[in-house]
Amino acid sequence: MNQFSMTSHQEVLTGIEADQICVDYNGTVALYDASLKLSSGTICGLVGMNGAGKSTFFKALMGFVRPSRGTIRINGVSVGRAQREQAVAYVPQSEGVDCSFPVSVWDVVMMGRYGAMNLLRIPRESDRKAVLHSLERVDLVDLRHRPIGTLSGGQRKRAFLARAIAQRASVLLLDEPFTGVDVRTEKLMADLFSQFRREGRTILVSTHDLSHVRNFCDLVVLINKTVLAYGKTSEVFTAENLTMTFGGLPPNLLKGPIASD
Ligand SMILES: Nc1ncnc2c1ncn2[C@@H]1O[C@H](COP(=O)(O)OP(=O)(O)O)[C@@H](O)[C@H]1O
Ligand SMILES: [Mg+2]
Repeated sequence: MNQFSMTSHQEVLTGIEADQICVDYNGTVALYDASLKLSSGTICGLVGMNGAGKSTFFKALMGFVRPSRGTIRINGVSVGRAQREQAVAYVPQSEGVDCSFPVSVWDVVMMGRYGAMNLLRIPRESDRKAVLHSLERVDLVDLRHRPIGTLSGGQRKRAFLARAIAQRASVLLLDEPFTGVDVRTEKLMADLFSQFRREGRTILVSTHDLSHVRNFCDLVVLINKTVLAYGKTSEVFTAENLTMTFGGLPPNLLKGPIASD
């Protein structure tokens, strides 16, 4: 096989590839040398303390912040192109969302269809069907006419999830989706994420709750400004790694059995 044919047969990773990412905010480093490789059909937990750089990682993957160093490829293409192709869906951490604008739940979910529409953005029957189906999957059909700002935190998260479903994105970035939701929503989300995995999507989900990671994440990334450990959940969740991640202050986060090392 000559060099050309070797290159042309090289496999393009479907998923997320971040290589030695550094992000700083006006000179203050939030993330350095953070690398990650996630292929499709996996759920990966992103775990770290407040301020560890989880949201920054998501923002870099979305192209909202520009790394000062490093490269990111999503499904083998640049962040910008992945955005234009609507390949990535993002459910932001609630605190970062301005929900005061008077947009209905239906309209928020319809935004997920924009990539499939022409410039005039006139929804077709197929778009309306996709939105309805997405709302059904998160059990939010009854609230479809409500302004997004009047929803509870959990309902709002479900609305953003519905938008992600309507978008048919292959990569899903979920920043603390479980924070402030009730048990019913938590169960609904966990089931949904398992379905997404079966559909071959790539899911990166940040959480404070280690039991969630144990329950359904195939892989886990422990971060504190950089990647401290990364790999299969059972192998990474050691007492030593968790103590390192939480700066020796893990007690209330360490309920339940942890992997012995
Ligand atoms: N827009 C910003 N401007 C300046 N500093 C920021 C900004 N966003 C985040 N930071 C800082 O970057 C660090 C990482 O924050 P963040 O990514 O939000 O962490 P996490 O999501 O893990 O809590 C923190 O020290 C935070 O204060
Ligand atoms: Mg955050």
